[in-house]
Amino acid sequence: MAKGIYMPKILAVATVVLTVSSIGGIISMMIVYETWRNEVNPTPPPTPNVTTPFPTGPPPTMRLPGNLIPEKYVIYLQPKLYTVMTNATNQTLIFTGNSTVFLRCVEHTKNIILHSKQQNVTSVEVKDLSNGNSIKVLDQIFYDESDFLEILLEEPLMKNGTYSLFTSFEGELLEDLSGFYTSSYKKEPTKEEDAKWLFGNETIVELDERFIAASQMQPTDARKVFPCFDEPGMKATFKVTIIHRLDTVALSNGMNIASTTEEIDGEEWLITGFSETKKMSTYLLAFTVSDFTAIESKHERVKIKTYARPEAINARHADYAASITGRILAFYESPAVFGINYPLSKLDQIALPDFSGGAMENWGLIAYRETALLYEEGVSSTSNKEWIATVVAHELAHQWFGNLVTMKWWNNLWLNEGFATYFSYKGVDHVQPDWHIKDLFVLNEIQTAFQVDALASSHALSPGQDEIQTPDEITELFDSITYSKGAAVLRMLKDTLSERVFMIGLRKYLQAFQYNNTVPKDLWEFLTEASLENKAIDVAKVMDTWTKQMGYPVINISTSTGEAHQAHFLLNQTSHSNLLWHIPIRVKKEGQGIKEVTMYSENQGKQFDDFRSVNGKWVLANINCTGYFRVNYDQENWDRLLSQLEKNIHEIPIINRGQLIDDAFNLARAKYVNVTLALRTTKYLRNDTEYMPWESALRNLNYFILMFDRSEVYGPMQAYLRMQVSGLFQYFQNATMNSTAIEELSHSEKYNHINSISVACSNDIPECQEMASTFFDNWMTNKTSNEIHPNLKTAIYCQAIAAGGEKEWEFAWDQYQNATIATEKDKLRYALSCTRKIWLLNRYLQYTLDPDKIRKMDAVSTINFIASNVAGQAIAWNFVRANWKFISLEYGGGIMSLGNLIEGVTERFNTDFELQELRQFQSNYDEQELGSASMALEQAIERTQANIKWVKENKQTVLEWFRRETSENS
Ligand SMILES: *[C@@H]1O[C@H](CO)[C@@H](O)[C@H](O)[C@H]1NC(C)=O
Ligand SMILES: *[C@@H]1O[C@H](CO)[C@@H](O)[C@H](O)[C@H]1NC(C)=O
Ligand SMILES: *[C@@H]1O[C@H](CO)[C@@H](O)[C@H](O)[C@H]1NC(C)=O
Ligand SMILES: [Zn+2]
Repeated sequence: MAKGIYMPKILAVATVVLTVSSIGGIISMMIVYETWRNEVNPTPPPTPNVTTPFPTGPPPTMRLPGNLIPEKYVIYLQPKLYTVMTNATNQTLIFTGNSTVFLRCVEHTKNIILHSKQQNVTSVEVKDLSNGNSIKVLDQIFYDESDFLEILLEEPLMKNGTYSLFTSFEGELLEDLSGFYTSSYKKEPTKEEDAKWLFGNETIVELDERFIAASQMQPTDARKVFPCFDEPGMKATFKVTIIHRLDTVALSNGMNIASTTEEIDGEEWLITGFSETKKMSTYLLAFTVSDFTAIESKHERVKIKTYARPEAINARHADYAASITGRILAFYESPAVFGINYPLSKLDQIALPDFSGGAMENWGLIAYRETALLYEEGVSSTSNKEWIATVVAHELAHQWFGNLVTMKWWNNLWLNEGFATYFSYKGVDHVQPDWHIKDLFVLNEIQTAFQVDALASSHALSPGQDEIQTPDEITELFDSITYSKGAAVLRMLKDTLSERVFMIGLRKYLQAFQYNNTVPKDLWEFLTEASLENKAIDVAKVMDTWTKQMGYPVINISTSTGEAHQAHFLLNQTSHSNLLWHIPIRVKKEGQGIKEVTMYSENQGKQFDDFRSVNGKWVLANINCTGYFRVNYDQENWDRLLSQLEKNIHEIPIINRGQLIDDAFNLARAKYVNVTLALRTTKYLRNDTEYMPWESALRNLNYFILMFDRSEVYGPMQAYLRMQVSGLFQYFQNATMNSTAIEELSHSEKYNHINSISVACSNDIPECQEMASTFFDNWMTNKTSNEIHPNLKTAIYCQAIAAGGEKEWEFAWDQYQNATIATEKDKLRYALSCTRKIWLLNRYLQYTLDPDKIRKMDAVSTINFIASNVAGQAIAWNFVRANWKFISLEYGGGIMSLGNLIEGVTERFNTDFELQELRQFQSNYDEQELGSASMALEQAIERTQANIKWVKENKQTVLEWFRRETSENS
């Protein structure tokens, strides 16, 4: 089935017209029920053969023509679903509604083009607001590819005229996590006698399953809910009314300003009216109907409520998120940060049991996955807590960067996501200063973006507008380039301008463009202006090299002469590129202070004094990794840096200890240095207990594990890892055996503690494996996992299930199904993928197709967990191929999920045979069937080619190196 053709499952309903007069009798609403159209026209019809001065048909591009500007929408929505069900209820998963949009005409036209998708538009009326006259609608045409709805009119709309367009519509509430959708959850069972009641003389039983309606519009699904001008630049205000079942709560962006009950068609309904929103983009609209309850947060002006399942609220799982939300919001509002008040009088947050992304910043109604909002002390881990703080801070930053000031078109999505990611570190730091979260920026953002951005199939932060047209193209932009590289180049720019100048420019930019849309040039102008008061910088000139071209540079420094050359860093050197950048560099010589230099693109081959080594002392560039680039040195300087690490690690900043490792490994992959140099950077780790260097090393060694865990290199490699980690394992031994000692560790030490256990256990250190099995056995016996510290659960569960059999697996599966908090479920869901038993893995894969077992939103990550287990790799790939059509249809809606799936199941690929299979897979489907996975597939092919080459060239060397290192020391 081609994408976008929609066959309603619910068939004809008789034509009924009913009028509801409500909300003080001011608004009178008409819902027109008509028969469903039998089918949606799949191809554009021939252009009518009328000679007219007016353009007809949809525009040649996928963009709205811009001749009509929407100013205000008045929307009614009536989701018919029941939240509470009995065994006698017929669930009704549809919604009906209508919308009136007020339009300003800026160019005369005889057709109205707007977006509509997968819905039945039952009536259309157009009025001239200057005289109240109706304008006759000749026809409505739906276009599949573009989601356009073209409304052909008898008379033209004239420039400067104002018009209204009324549409009524019906749609389905599907479990597809997009548009207006439904999901359900199981509440704690009600006692049998409470769940039963008599209705007449019939017994009715209340069921434990609860239904909710929720929405996810970004990027292009507002059009699935109501016909609209669904582009971020088409900002308007929205006046929303929701008609919903009694005993449910309806939320939307606006404040609840009126609630009445009304009898409609023999049933009682609640009618909730919301205040008109600020001027905003359609993708930020949100609606929920649920039986959820809430707790409030403190804020001097804004009413902040955090909603979740009543049981989660009662168990106080929303308390942590609620406790930080008001503080972060006030922090962002403060004069030193954005200096603009959050403009709404309320802010709701809601934890949804099913949600496609992590969270969505809808203005005034932020939606989260449960794991991103609900926390339980003693059950959730440190990283669960950090994730919640990070996501809340990210979404709150969007209330300014994204909601108040929005990118003009999706090609500049990074203006939303880069800023929200960048500021999330500030927001978290404000409420959890003890975490030193900013130190993790390099690991979380820079190293992550570096991976994708080193491929020839990467893309620019700001691709051309024309390159980003279709919903799939837009969806593909929600990747680590947009989020992490976006944040990384902002951090680099901040460092160049100074924090103070950067913030002055940003505040003026926000002020100037509030309720409006921007392109990067607007930002650069305000930052350039701000820079005049310090050191004048032509920001556009510098930043265009980072935003308009893909990739990033490696700077090759010869410390004997101080000469520097930059080159586009590509993992696979076969593709040539002569891209150049303007690079701000912080550099330090042994025993001296930090210097700042800028290497302009025209400085190729220039000698810099600051790069020249004196008296055999080392030079270290990119201090604290403030720049988005890698550094390579002459062999002598590498040797000096490595011997410094052996002698005294403290001379090199922690972030650079990690970055030296990450650079060396990646430079080796791109053949700038030998693989042995990369491996040598890990030797000193015996003397380092810091998280940043260890984590950098482990991520890079993970590549070696993926490439070699099916080969004879693996044994010696494990021996090396055992040797390296045993000191770290000992260092944390006290904390491992005694949970209270964990609380004394610093935030990053807590993470390295987890590393020490997962590395020790997965490389067969017996004490570690015994410890894990003992903890797990006690859990199985005593039925309480409280003895296991939340931080160690993932590692311990995984290890015990890997070492165990069916009994351990089934026990964990039971625990998974009965866990009351999503963070615990996620740990178990991961651990279940650790078993070495193929039949268990195969059955687990099948479970991902059954939403009663594995929720849809978790299917892709579960498959990826299984693929990351060497025992599950091949079966996961077979499974994805065998079920591709189903998977892409059912799970394709989520942002980036198909791309992640392809990336996950192919990450071990390093043989010609696997490359052939990938190509075969690619040719089996057309662009549409691959959907949002097509870019990821290109990248997987490129990565596999690079892997094949890398293994061929390095395997022998690596094998010998591990053998030598382990024999010398044994
Ligand atoms: C369109 O109109 C022209 C002129 O009246 C006529 O020659 C032509 O055949 C028409 N085309 C169609 C497709 O009806
Ligand atoms: C609902 O369950 C009750 C109790 O089991 C039963 O008596 C009744 O017939 C059921 N009603 C329907 C419509 O299935
Ligand atoms: C539910 O639907 C069935 C079949 O259409 C119908 O017989 C039954 O009366 C309906 N029950 C209710 C409570 O509406
Ligand atoms: Zn975001």
